Parts: sequence; structure tokens; C-alpha cells
Amino acid sequence: MSDSHGKDSAGSTGGGHADEGPHEGPIKTPQQLIWTVVASFVIPIVIIILLVNYVAFGNKPAAGSDGLGAEAVARRLQPVGKVEVRDASGPVVVRSGEEVYKAVCTACHSIGAAGAPKTGDAAAWAPRLKTGYDTLLNSALKGKGAMSAQGGGEYSDYEIARAVVFLANQSGGKLEEPKAPAAAASGAAAASAPK
Ligand code: HEC
Repeated sequence: MSDSHGKDSAGSTGGGHADEGPHEGPIKTPQQLIWTVVASFVIPIVIIILLVNYVAFGNKPAAGSDGLGAEAVARRLQPVGKVEVRDASGPVVVRSGEEVYKAVCTACHSIGAAGAPKTGDAAAWAPRLKTGYDTLLNSALKGKGAMSAQGGGEYSDYEIARAVVFLANQSGGKLEEPKAPAAAASGAAAASAPK
């Protein structure tokens, strides 16, 4: 009889079907009822715990792979090219002579590559030092022989000047630290001035 009302097996909501006889659900014993009640609490809780785990720790990389690590993903998302914008009016970071030397000049001058006068070789530097700081600076800025302009670096003239002084003074010279050009000086002063 109840088959004629498909929805009825889920529980009668009453309302004029009293003539269908006693309602029969899947739960027939008190034990089954207890199990059903317990399961109806436990199963959703387990599902919630699993979902929370999935959401919170879903980014776990596969074992033995860092392919999904935040760092690895960021690396892959990097733009192809990078543009370094140097704000000429911003605080000027002036590298010291030693920094420039270690970044560029050391490549040739530490080992005397391509006939470069070796750093610290006073004998090799003595005749060059005699030509004067301006000559040396000019050579470093514009290039000389196998040395390209600025030794191939991209620095301000002032930074190259400091590198020349650093290099020369490592090699028996007694040059004075070059004065900062006016623009850099005012920029540095502005940068360090209290606001
Ligand atoms: C590619 C190699 C190379 C690099 C890099 C290099 N130099 Fe040189 N440098 C040379 C060579 C070679 C000479 C000798 C040139 C000559 O007398 O013909 C030289 C000579 C010099 C001289 C003497 C110039 C003169 O008039 O006698 C100075 C000063 C100097 N270098 C400074 C620098 C500084 C500062 C840097 C870094 C910014 C630098 N060099 C980077 C190869 C290099």
C-alpha cells in the first residue's frame, strides 16, 4: 500500500494518510535507534573535521616535492623581466670603493688578468700612480687597454672614483677619499636629515 506514495517511507508527515496502516521505518529495535542517533552525530562531525583538514592543510606539498611550496610557487609566478627603477631624487645609496672593487674590479685586478696591474703590487702601480689621480680616474671611467669603461660596471662616477682610490691605496698609493659630488651630497644630506 505504502508503495503508492513514494515519499512516505521517509516518514509520514501526517495529514490524511491515517488509513495506510502503521508506519514502518528502517528502525525497528531500540538498539538500532541508539546507533542511528549516535551515527547522526558522529558522521557529520567526522566530515567536518576532514573538511577542515582539507582546507587548512590542503597546500601540503606531495611527499618529497616542494613544487607547491609558497616559495616555489612565488618563484614560478615571477614576471619574466625585472625593471629596477632608480629614483634619482630618492635617497642615494652610494657604494663604497671597497664594495665596487669587490663587485667589479677584483675580477681583473686581484689576479692581474688581461695585463691589469695587480692589487697590492706596488711596483706595478708606482708608475701609474705617478700619472696622478685624475689620469687614473679618467682611465677607470673611460676604459684603458683591456679595461672597458668603468671596468664594465654600472656605477656613478663618484663610486668609480672611490674604487680607484681604494684600489690605488691597496697598492702603495696615498690618495684621498674623493669628495662626494654636490648632487649626491645634498641627496645624502636630505636622506639623513631629521624630518
Ligand atoms: C676586464 C678586466 C678589468 C676590470 C674588470 C677592471 N680593470 Fe682596471 N685595468 C685593467 C687593465 C688590463 C688595466 C691596464 C690598462 C693599460 O694600462 O693598458 C687596468 C688599469 C687600471 C688602472 C690604471 C689606469 C692607468 O691610467 O694606468 C686603474 C686606476 C684601474 N684599472 C681601475 C679599475 C677599477 C676602479 C675597476 C673597477 C671599477 C677596474 N679597474 C676594473 C683591467 C680591468
